[in-house]
Amino acid sequence: MSKPVVLVVMDGVGWTDKDNGNAVLHAYKPQIDELMTKWPHTTIKASGTAVGLPSDKDMGNSEVGHNALGCGQIYSQGAKLVNESIESGKIYSSDAWKGAADYVKAHDGKLHFIGLLSDGNVHSNISHLIAMIKEAKKEGIHEVRVHALLDGRDVPETSALKYVDQLEEVFKELNDDTFHGCIASGGGRMVITMDRYEADWSMVEKGWHIHVMGDGRQFASAKEAIETYRGEGGYTDQYLPGFVIAKDGKPVGTIDDGDSVILFNFRGDRAVEISKAFDYMNKGFDKFPMPKKPQVYYAGMLQYDGDLKLPDHFLVEPPHIEHTMSEFLVKKGVYSYACSETQKFGHVTYFWNGNRSEKFDDKLETWEEVPSDVIPFDLKPWMKAEEVTDKMIAAIESGKYQFLRCNYPNGDMVGHTGNYEATLIGVEAVDLSLRRIMDACKKADYTLIVVADHGNSDEMYDKGTNPDGTPKPKTSHSLARVPFAIYNGPEGTEIKDGDFGLANVAATVVQLLGFEKPEQWLESIIK
Ligand code: 3PG
Ligand code: CO
Repeated sequence: MSKPVVLVVMDGVGWTDKDNGNAVLHAYKPQIDELMTKWPHTTIKASGTAVGLPSDKDMGNSEVGHNALGCGQIYSQGAKLVNESIESGKIYSSDAWKGAADYVKAHDGKLHFIGLLSDGNVHSNISHLIAMIKEAKKEGIHEVRVHALLDGRDVPETSALKYVDQLEEVFKELNDDTFHGCIASGGGRMVITMDRYEADWSMVEKGWHIHVMGDGRQFASAKEAIETYRGEGGYTDQYLPGFVIAKDGKPVGTIDDGDSVILFNFRGDRAVEISKAFDYMNKGFDKFPMPKKPQVYYAGMLQYDGDLKLPDHFLVEPPHIEHTMSEFLVKKGVYSYACSETQKFGHVTYFWNGNRSEKFDDKLETWEEVPSDVIPFDLKPWMKAEEVTDKMIAAIESGKYQFLRCNYPNGDMVGHTGNYEATLIGVEAVDLSLRRIMDACKKADYTLIVVADHGNSDEMYDKGTNPDGTPKPKTSHSLARVPFAIYNGPEGTEIKDGDFGLANVAATVVQLLGFEKPEQWLESIIK
């Protein structure tokens, strides 16, 4: 009988000697250091083409990282599929594009785009938005409105004006007697609309008021809104309050009956809630009161949830991720356990299972969520590491599961705040938790795999300095490789020679569990 396997994902903990504010390198982390010296270990690829992104310049992210970990294969991901669909023009012959365009034309309505305005390539890409706006004009649509969610989390933390200016230039070029496009509303992505995993529905409610009803503080332009808020509160982009663009006191682009709405984000986690608001508005939606329910045609860039079929209409076919590890283990009758706190709960369940929100088998799979705090995480960088660890240890001690996985969000969620000191503590909280997990694995004689999904906390400084000479904080992920280590594995566990990536982990897990991997998967990392 093979030993059960525990897999820990240290979210956002990249492994590199480079020291651009490297909070991993400088954290006090005896456990991680032990794993990466004394036990079989290596570093693996977690960004670019190794996880299905368009190029090796694309940093990794949790969606593509957990997809690869959970399915053992490299699928072309949303960022790449949308690029291809726009390049070939296929997107414009999709039922959803035609549906949205026809609906607007039939009702003399407006075409709205909601989404993250940046080129971060994690949730969206502004180039996709611009291409669609140009096509809309070509197809005879007269009115376009953009509801711009400001990023500063997948791109430099105060870069919003660059993207706003880029979009305003496009409108300047296109606007004429037949066509009028403009920004209608917006706000920081961590304040409105882009909540995930039901951590805080009030963000989506705020977004509904701002985008749909035009109910919010008014400004003459997005630039004015950003500059005013920055001057008043020192806000960085991701936390900028919501704003409505208005002329003579009247919002320029509320969402009304006869309009179409396209959510141009391709990534699902932060697109699901706003999509539910639109798709389920007349089907018992009860997450917040909706004073206005416009009759619109709603489409997502992709289908975000393969189980819920959400949204109904979508422009580009998502990657259809098959032969996942969960499905494989269920077929073998293996009991498995998954745990994280809210912010990453869907990462170890929904992303892990190929963007499916439901289990393959209720009896064999157990999922436990620890509710996250609703606070900026640099205020409490240890987050819920202790509670996640308690649950993992109880699950190990129960003896019920052969495969257990969890995600510690600290390196990533604290890393995204740009606060270096807090991120050191975040990494240290993960390290402390690892000691407890390692001890539990030793005691129960389980194999432990420790890995990360992408870098973040390993690079906390951006290029350049602030006017006072201090380093500029970096809030986005990094391109770093990630650590991979096996603790308390079977006698003779040895890492193979070779260059591996996240998609090689699934085969490693099932090998340790005593199974032969499915033919579709990449090879195991161990001999
Ligand atoms: C976010 O959604 O918080 C960031 O854009 C990406 O972070 P994640 O990929 O680590 O979730
Ligand atoms: Co992240």
